Amino acid sequence: MTRTLLVTGAGGVGKTTIAAACGVVAARAGLRTLVVTVDPARRLASALGIASLADEPLPHEEEPGLWAAMLDSSASWRAVAMRHADPDVAGRLASNEFFRAASEHFPASQSYAAADQAVTYVQARAWDLVIVDTPPSGGGIDFFSAPAQMADLVGGRLLRWLTGGPLPGRRFFYNRAARPVLRIADSILGSDLLERVSEFLLDLRTTYDGVARRGREIEGVLRDSSILVVTTTDPAPVSEAVRFYRELPGLASTPTAVIFNRALPDRWVAFEDHDSLSPQIQHIVESWSAETLRQRDVREEFSARYGAKVATIPWSSKPLTKLDGLAGLIEVSEGIPWEEILPTDAAG
Ligand SMILES: Nc1ncnc2c1ncn2[C@@H]1O[C@H](COP(=O)(O)OP(=O)(O)O)[C@@H](O)[C@H]1O
Ligand SMILES: [Mg+2]
Repeated sequence: MTRTLLVTGAGGVGKTTIAAACGVVAARAGLRTLVVTVDPARRLASALGIASLADEPLPHEEEPGLWAAMLDSSASWRAVAMRHADPDVAGRLASNEFFRAASEHFPASQSYAAADQAVTYVQARAWDLVIVDTPPSGGGIDFFSAPAQMADLVGGRLLRWLTGGPLPGRRFFYNRAARPVLRIADSILGSDLLERVSEFLLDLRTTYDGVARRGREIEGVLRDSSILVVTTTDPAPVSEAVRFYRELPGLASTPTAVIFNRALPDRWVAFEDHDSLSPQIQHIVESWSAETLRQRDVREEFSARYGAKVATIPWSSKPLTKLDGLAGLIEVSEGIPWEEILPTDAAG
């Protein structure tokens, strides 16, 4: 069975690094592991020390059992909707200016396309573990809400209202409740424009079944996934992390753990032998000690308030661009619940 690990959190907290690091560790534990990123910044490639990433999963040349892929971030709702339309409907949609405008401006489309593609890899059953570094749009939560948003958009209330209940006839726009408004619009904008709007809405509705079915499949995979929420102890990413604990149980599943990245080591709290240090050094040591304590308080409060399993990954002074460096980061981590993340026969 393919397990899925979703690594999510605010931008810049270390998601891509941690996704890559987990990938290296899992591959070294003997699991066929794919790490998928949607990060256009190409951080995954540099973290794994490879020149570039392709849209299709490619095996890592130096790490047996590890594959990596970067999803095309320009893949959009358009591609997804086209996949679910009949060929002639798809043709009409492709040339409809309203469809083009809507697909470019629908904010969740990138996240949806990413979730859809990632789920394709999970369903391929070619890997034991698929690790997804979720896209940063909407603070990452978009990735989880996109399937529902997509189905809502295509079959949702607005569209149902505009197209009048169960797939109405094309003539609806010209003969029912909307008539007075449409007549005015007609005389101002020209009837061809209205024809194109109604065509767009009606064609879009025919994709609903396909989009909704796929959305349910995607949500099923998201619900069965392990989720690591990555943050630091800074207020902004912590409030993003809180959102995942508040909102994910309704969208996917409760996060498996929260990882506080760039943590200062606990041993910095109590530094003995103060007297032998110069006052200047003493001041520095005390400042770091206070910061270490503050970080510990933030973690403890988060754990108490949200019932979260808390893990830490220490701040690393070395650049994290080598496979051994990434694996080392996980070795010094504490509290990552591997038994819940890895396939049962490989845990431990
Ligand atoms: N534990 C750590 N210690 C030191 N630097 C880190 C650590 N984790 C991540 N970084 C660095 O922080 C930067 C942002 O990390 P990245 O993984 O790209 O974040 P995100 O994917 O969340 O935007 C990178 O330069 C990375 O090397
Ligand atoms: Mg990233």
